[in-house]
Amino acid sequence: MNKSVIQNTVDFVKEKLLGAEAGHDWFHIERVWKLSKNIAAHENCILEVVELAALLHDIADPKFHGGDETLALTISNDFLENQKVSPEIIGQVLFIIKNVSFKNRNEAPQILPLELKIVQDADRLDAIGAIGIARTFNFGGFKNNLMYDPELPPQLEMSKEEYKKNQGTTINHFYEKLLLLQGLMHTEAAKKIASERHDFMLKFLDEFYKEWNVEI
Ligand code: ADP
Ligand code: NI
Repeated sequence: MNKSVIQNTVDFVKEKLLGAEAGHDWFHIERVWKLSKNIAAHENCILEVVELAALLHDIADPKFHGGDETLALTISNDFLENQKVSPEIIGQVLFIIKNVSFKNRNEAPQILPLELKIVQDADRLDAIGAIGIARTFNFGGFKNNLMYDPELPPQLEMSKEEYKKNQGTTINHFYEKLLLLQGLMHTEAAKKIASERHDFMLKFLDEFYKEWNVEI
C-alpha cells in the first residue's frame, strides 16, 4: 500500500479538524484509526479502504455543518482524487463515510461490506467506556444540555430527525445510544472490547445515581 497517501490523509484530517469539539476532533479520529487497524488485523479485509475511511469518516460531520450530509463526501472525494487513489477504492471509502453513522443505521443497506463493519465497530467502541463517557459529557456541555433530570425519561423510539433534534439530557444519551452499541458490534474482536467498556458504563451509572441521590 502507498504509505504516503495515508500520511497525507493524516495531515489533511489533522488540519481540517483544528478547533473541533473535543469528542469529534483529531484525537477521536486517531483512536478510531488505531482501533480499526487492531480489528482489521483479525480480518481478511482491504486495509487501505479501512484506514482511509477511518481517517476521513468525521471530516465534515453534518451536526457541525448545518445538517449538510454531502459535504464530507465531496471533501473526501476531492482529496482522494487529488491523491490519485483509484476510483474503485474511492467508491468503497465514500460508501463507508456515508453509512457509518449511528443515526443512519436504519437507512443503511442490510448487507454491509466487511471494511464498513470494521470502521463502524471502531467508531462505536470510541463512543463507549471511559472515553465514551467523557465524549458524551463534553458534547452535552458543548450543547448546553442538562447532565441529568430525573423527570425526563429517555426517548427509546426516536426517528433520525427526532434523534438529531433531541435536546435531552446527557444521562439519557446512555440509554438512547451508548448502552445499545455493545449489541450492534459486528466483529469478534470488537465484541470483546465492547463487553468490558459496557460493564464500565454500567458501573459509572450506578455510582452516578448513588451520588446524585446522596446515598452515602
Ligand atoms: P454518529 O456520529 O455515529 O451518528 P452521534 O451523532 O450519535 O453518532 O454522536 C457521536 C458522539 O457524540 C456520541 O457517541 C456522543 O459521545 C456524542 N453525542 C451525540 N449526541 C449526543 C447527545 N444528545 N448527548 C450527549 N452526547 C451526544
Ligand atoms: Ni466518529
